[in-house]
Amino acid sequence: MAIYVNEETLTFHLTNRDVSYLFSVLPNGELTHLYYGKKLSHVADFSQLFYTEVKDNSCTEADAALSMDVIRQEYPSFSRSDFRLPAVQLTNKDGHRVSRFTYTGYEKVKGKTKLKGLPATYVESSEEADTLKVFLRDEVLEATLTLSYTIYQHHPVITRHVTLTNHHRDDLIINQMMSASLDFNHNQFDWLELAGSWARERHIKRTPLHAGIQNIQSTRGASSPQHNPFIALLRPETAEHVGEAYGFSLVYSGNFLAQMEVDHYDTTRVTMGINPFDFNWRLERDETFTTPEVVMVYSDQGLNKLSQVYHTLYRTRLARGVWRDKLRPVLINNWEATYFNFNEDKLLQMATEAKQLGVELFVLDDGWFKGRNSDTTSLGDWFVDEKKLPNGLRSLSEKIHGLGLQFGLWIEPEMISPKSELYHAHPDWVVGVNNRPNSPGRNQYVLDFSNKAVIDYIYHLIKERLTEANVDYVKWDMNRFMTEAGSVHLAPADQTSFRHRYILGVYRLYELLTTDFPNVLFESCAAGGARFDPGMLYYAPQGWTSDDTDALERVKIQYGTSLVYPASMMGAHVSAVPNHQTGRMTPIETRGVVAFSGMLGYELDPSQLSKEEKTIVQEQIRHYKQVQPVVQFGQMTRLISPFDDPLHASWQFVSQDETDVLVTYIQQQAQPNPAFRQLKLVGLKKNKAYTLVGTDSIFYGDQLMYHGLELDRYIDRSDAGDARGYLLHFKVQEETE
Ligand code: DGJ
Repeated sequence: MAIYVNEETLTFHLTNRDVSYLFSVLPNGELTHLYYGKKLSHVADFSQLFYTEVKDNSCTEADAALSMDVIRQEYPSFSRSDFRLPAVQLTNKDGHRVSRFTYTGYEKVKGKTKLKGLPATYVESSEEADTLKVFLRDEVLEATLTLSYTIYQHHPVITRHVTLTNHHRDDLIINQMMSASLDFNHNQFDWLELAGSWARERHIKRTPLHAGIQNIQSTRGASSPQHNPFIALLRPETAEHVGEAYGFSLVYSGNFLAQMEVDHYDTTRVTMGINPFDFNWRLERDETFTTPEVVMVYSDQGLNKLSQVYHTLYRTRLARGVWRDKLRPVLINNWEATYFNFNEDKLLQMATEAKQLGVELFVLDDGWFKGRNSDTTSLGDWFVDEKKLPNGLRSLSEKIHGLGLQFGLWIEPEMISPKSELYHAHPDWVVGVNNRPNSPGRNQYVLDFSNKAVIDYIYHLIKERLTEANVDYVKWDMNRFMTEAGSVHLAPADQTSFRHRYILGVYRLYELLTTDFPNVLFESCAAGGARFDPGMLYYAPQGWTSDDTDALERVKIQYGTSLVYPASMMGAHVSAVPNHQTGRMTPIETRGVVAFSGMLGYELDPSQLSKEEKTIVQEQIRHYKQVQPVVQFGQMTRLISPFDDPLHASWQFVSQDETDVLVTYIQQQAQPNPAFRQLKLVGLKKNKAYTLVGTDSIFYGDQLMYHGLELDRYIDRSDAGDARGYLLHFKVQEETE
């Protein structure tokens, strides 16, 4: 890993063993992008990568024979000779929006610096990464811009973010400030995103890039299930195991924009960051604004490699705390078992039975606080409901602990019910604007987390409950999007900064609680996966992947989620049938097989299981605990996509020490008289012998990879039908060089 700077030509080359990223200072002092992709050997002079001509009918810069419209830029500003959409747009005291930032210097830093108040990837030692800061200044605005780039030593990863400082005595308004902008000199790409909705999150969509603007965004106040803050640009020929892929993942949980612009010369500009929609930020003299971080990954070995890089980075250098590296407990959650209808006896009965099945953690979901018998009431009143739990939370927790289980609690700290004591006492603590009624969502309003007093109040209350109940786990839910976005506590000129301030407030509360409770496992949730993004996963090392627990639906959701996020970050539960979301009947074995590819839990009432099902669940948990390290810390490879193949799906995990291979194969739909099927595994040691656990069959790695496994010989098809799931566990047997 190195950051080379040619002091004469002012060319910057960030490189490690896989990638190169190059940019340079133009004659007019602005920056031009030169290259991003597979590693280039470092040479003294990269000027051959720079080509520009002033085309007919171009506008040119006032002081140089350059048209910014045909130059690949590094961080384009607004309203000069470039007509493409900018990365930064600012308004000064005169209402002028023109900016021009020119180079003033640079600094190299070993390691990686923290982003103030924002989640970001990190390093554990300064040897792991190098950071380059490039300083730019706009003399008219009296503002400085710092572009920060970090290159990791062992990953093909470059992270970027930007800070802006206002030195002028008058306020400067940020209308738009993206985290990164990148110009490619061609448009030979498909673009891929993870799109969806509640209960069908993160489905893979791939489309050829075309002339004009294509973008995804969130305007909902959360990153949203509609579009995950991630895009990839793929060469048309790129597939899972071949071809170039560029990933852009934003470490942010609020409104974002990811945009691609293909211009009239077939170049492509990618920008990503906070959505400029309904966003302005007022910067007073000497104040600094910091954008969230974009994590850029390059792969020349297809999408699988791209995903594996994100998995390793996010599992080890985004997730934090003791649970990052600790095996997660198998949990049972009472939500689908009881909804709001429970009492202490019912919970203890569930916990007792769950313990007998091998469950390790009991999670008390929604409904434990004052009068919360439906979703119409009580959010904000974080005091125990003594009708349901007359002995209180502490006593319940002690009894659960007494059974040998850990105890977890659901909270939704960002929300308030209009029917609550908190609302009665503080109607002004709600997100909204004067003289307009709020639009309810799930019968609730959003608390104004731009107001420190609100956060402080909620923080102390939740802290009391978590301390009193001696919790081991917290499920932090968020169940509605933001409407009437505004705060009665903010000045008129700051109302458009509200949405970002809100997210900063959420991060602040997360930071406070995770610091106070370092041993507690936090799981982030938002009506399932409505805020399943790297920002949340920085605070909570796992997220509730989706409210949809149907095994077949989950195949798609988890497969799509795996484009960016590792199995260690996906909560995956076995629930009852008929499934509460789809009404579908699936075998309990299949539900187990699908949930095995995440952090396993149960979302059902064990007393409703038959004796036979209980035995199966017991065996599932025993088996899962054996293979959990392979799933949680191993490397996942996708094999058959449920988005391409309506009949099948498959993926595999290889353990860190490469001795175990766990293959998941799903038959989504049965066929009469099916064709033979070979499943080719990936990334095995070709000369090693692998035993198929539970059989006498031995295979060599090369056989499994090149010839493939003849599935019908090794899976029991006697119970063939729709929604059948199979797990095959291979173990390295001996050296056979
Ligand atoms: C939405 C979550 O996704 C569910 O798992 C459950 O916790 C409910 N909220 C409770 O209201």
